[in-house]
Amino acid sequence: MKIKNICCIGAGYVGGPTMAVIAQKCPNVNVTVVDINEKRIKQWNDPDVEKIPIYEPGLSEIVKEARGRNLFFSTDVDKAIDEADMIFISVNTPTKTYGIGKGMAADLKWIELCARQIAEVSKNDKIVIEKSTLPVRTAAALRDILDSTGNGVKYQILSNPEFLAEGTAVEDLRNPDRVLIGGDIETEEGREAMEALVNIYATWVPREKILTTNVWSSELSKLTANAFLAQRVSSINAMSELCEKTGADINEVSKAIGMDSRIGPKFLKASVGFGGSCFQKDILNLVYIARTFNLNEVADYWEQVIIMNDHQKRRFAANMVQTMYNTVAGKKIAILGWAFKKDTNDTRESAAIYVADYLLNEQAEIMVYDPKVTEEQIYSDLDYLGTRSGDANRQAVTVVNSPYEACEDAHAIAVLTEWDEFKELDWQKLYDKMLKPAFLFDGRRLLEPKTKKEIGFEFYAIGN
Ligand code: NAD
Ligand code: UDX
Repeated sequence: MKIKNICCIGAGYVGGPTMAVIAQKCPNVNVTVVDINEKRIKQWNDPDVEKIPIYEPGLSEIVKEARGRNLFFSTDVDKAIDEADMIFISVNTPTKTYGIGKGMAADLKWIELCARQIAEVSKNDKIVIEKSTLPVRTAAALRDILDSTGNGVKYQILSNPEFLAEGTAVEDLRNPDRVLIGGDIETEEGREAMEALVNIYATWVPREKILTTNVWSSELSKLTANAFLAQRVSSINAMSELCEKTGADINEVSKAIGMDSRIGPKFLKASVGFGGSCFQKDILNLVYIARTFNLNEVADYWEQVIIMNDHQKRRFAANMVQTMYNTVAGKKIAILGWAFKKDTNDTRESAAIYVADYLLNEQAEIMVYDPKVTEEQIYSDLDYLGTRSGDANRQAVTVVNSPYEACEDAHAIAVLTEWDEFKELDWQKLYDKMLKPAFLFDGRRLLEPKTKKEIGFEFYAIGN
């Protein structure tokens, strides 16, 4: 089966970069990314490619090359569905904020809307691909909805979870550890659909890295991968607290255990807590699924990863207060970094939001500098928590365009994102601008301690 037209529903952090790379690698396939968010589509179509809505190293260059050639961004969802042979569903699946499963289950309302729209619009057979991260067995629900019209259109449903990490999305897409495709391996049509998608990826991914499985394994593997990754961060963060009490150093511990080839060196960096749109949401979803099957021990086991992460964010902020003589009321604190990790403008579930909220509850005054996050986003993140009014957030938090401005008359600095540029700052200049004693809290183990202490900083780093 030769695929000519691909449609991707959802022009977000996954749909945008993934489709841009497919379009670049498969110039003979037309790729249309659609979204109901008009502002987002307008930004994707901005003549200035630096203004596309997602910041990822290397992304704007690809968009520049492929946009208008075989990569299109549009709000006309019906048209793109109608024309497509293959439809990726890449819409958001956040944690439910209402009703049954509130705070735990994934909210599948956007997925269901997509399925209904595909069923309503389609006139010829389609391959429908779950690109969003979904609870295991969602494909069965999609099947019910798609087949409900009785209009004779045939669908093949595949699961093709995305493993890219933000900040390295382009590199991860170009050079993935593996591509996972789940489908109906029992039938000829199912195998054909899987082969069609394998062929797209095989344009640039070695075949031995393209894995095919049944749909349920594919759906569950995505939740499992995120649970394992997040568990490593919580495990190392748990040890970071023990390091602080015992004189051990978490970086040395990470290195020592990571050299064991059974453990491996990656994802062992202690931090102020993991953030991002995926880890927490996907583990909560896993916990919820386990509980619905009455697997309470399984649920409790994974829930602990989240409990540890919440503790890590809270204890970092609490330690700041305690170190600064048990009060930060009226004190100015500079937060360097708001994104949940470096090289992205995404702030979803960023530890910085929670640390700031904690400090605001202690009546601190906060200055924020992040090289890629907008002022509007920072206020919206704080407002979303609902801890205090929007006015109160705007009164207590100032967003500035330079780290030096953030540190003017500050009592303390908290480094909460590991942006490379923070390593290169003129730390003497920052120190000179601050009130003394000048406290420096490194939530990322980014900074070299010796030189900071020599300058005169009261230096605290996680796990040291
Ligand atoms: P996102 O919020 O950035 O983008 C989703 C987009 O879908 C939004 O722009 C929204 O307007 C659009 N949308 C929602 N309903 C729609 C509809 N009915 N029709 C058209 N557009 C619609 O989300 P994201 O970060 O790209 O994540 C998408 C999915 O991919 C989620 O399931 C997530 O768990 C998964 N995922 C995300 C990452 C990541 O790093 N962000 C990595 C792997 C997997
Ligand atoms: C994650 C998964 O890595 C990716 O495979 C999946 O597709 C989406 O979710 P992402 O959330 O974009 O990707 O970034 P990731 O690099 O995994 O970092 C997540 C959080 O963990 C960040 O806040 C990061 O700072 C933190 N982290 C990561 C640590 O604190 N220590 C580490 O060693 C690694």
